[in-house]
Amino acid sequence: MAVSVTTLLGHNVVRSVVLLTSLSLSFVKTVLVTGGAGFIGSNLVRHLLRTPVRVVVLDALTYAGNLANLDGVIDGERCVFVRGTIGDRSLVAKTVTTYAVTHLVNCAAESHVDRSIHDSRPFLETNIMGTQVLLDVAREMGIQRFLQMSTDEVYGSLTATDEPFSTYSPLRPSSPYSASKAAADMLVGAAVHTHGLHAIVTRCSNNYGPYQFPEKFIPLMIVNALSQGPLPIYGDGRQVRDWIHVDDHCRGVMLALEHGNAGDVFLFGGNAERSNLDVVTRIVQLTGASASLIRHVDDRPGHDRRYAVNTSDVEHTLGWKPIIPFEEGLEDTVRWYAEHSTWWQAILSGEYRTYVEQTYPAPSAGQPS
Ligand code: NAD
Ligand code: TYD
Repeated sequence: MAVSVTTLLGHNVVRSVVLLTSLSLSFVKTVLVTGGAGFIGSNLVRHLLRTPVRVVVLDALTYAGNLANLDGVIDGERCVFVRGTIGDRSLVAKTVTTYAVTHLVNCAAESHVDRSIHDSRPFLETNIMGTQVLLDVAREMGIQRFLQMSTDEVYGSLTATDEPFSTYSPLRPSSPYSASKAAADMLVGAAVHTHGLHAIVTRCSNNYGPYQFPEKFIPLMIVNALSQGPLPIYGDGRQVRDWIHVDDHCRGVMLALEHGNAGDVFLFGGNAERSNLDVVTRIVQLTGASASLIRHVDDRPGHDRRYAVNTSDVEHTLGWKPIIPFEEGLEDTVRWYAEHSTWWQAILSGEYRTYVEQTYPAPSAGQPS
């Protein structure tokens, strides 16, 4: 006797199976990008959408998350937006099931060192506990690949004469931010070792480029220079960062997601060590602002002196190199901010927050919005 599948499984189950099958047939990969409305996340979403995948963005829209970063990108089909926190296990699980997520890239984080010095709790909650929730859901739901976006700051600070960080340099984080990122990296390693999760960690040096929230050094200096505001330099300004354009970073992340083996750690950098004073001086030149806007202010407590990255491992394993020279990338970035003043003025005025709360009320627990 022929028994209909509907009778065996029930209407609702069949409907969801059919829905999920048709979705996963048309999109062989569905990538969940947590924190996809932030700076790097939103740039990564654009990179991903140039390949045949569907993207689901899960973002809590904290002060740093901005839907305007994804303007013209979210269409409800190829790119879907869900508002919520990575700490909400049932929401994460529901999102993974609803959209048949195959790959997860975790860009969601509290990311600003200065904020972590004032209040570390949100850093521990999101960067550590939130990451563990994602790892648990990824394992339970059989996600094929998990990529944890981390930072070179987990290695701590270098002196002027130290060798640059290499992939397996010891972890010596020195701020609450970098300590929380190091803890998350270790939880990812534990999930690989204990549960066999296919997870990869990428660590990268300081990013710059379009859509970076103007509390970080480069966008803050550009925005203030464009509006003739003060340019606050912590301490002597001789601290050194290795700067990488966000497009180079995103290219590396895409390669790591595709070719990385479980447990791999990839270290990306821009091969562009610059002191803060050098960077601000160049921004002053590019914007035509007055150098008298530069103000030395109190140093950041525990300020890391230098970050530098040796990228030879990743050049060998992934065939990746940074290709955007810092001077060119900085000039493009200054131009981008000059041409997108409505984007940053809305953030600075608080108008964006009002819009978000009205348009995307925070979901109640467990509900994809
Ligand atoms: P960002 O602050 O611009 O964006 C973070 C995003 O995460 C925001 O959209 C925010 O709303 C979202 N978010 C925060 N808490 C959340 C939560 N609990 N649930 C869901 N979403 C949440 O940060 P970014 O500069 O784009 O950094 C992205 C990742 O890359 C972070 O993990 C950071 O540690 C890492 N990283 C950043 C840099 C850099 O220079 N910016 C360098 C190396 C690594
Ligand atoms: P930041 O963008 O906060 O990145 P990170 O501390 O994670 O490297 O800062 C980059 C450098 O710029 C760092 O040495 C601190 C310095 N800085 C200032 O001198 N003034 C500022 O107003 C800010 C935000 C940063």
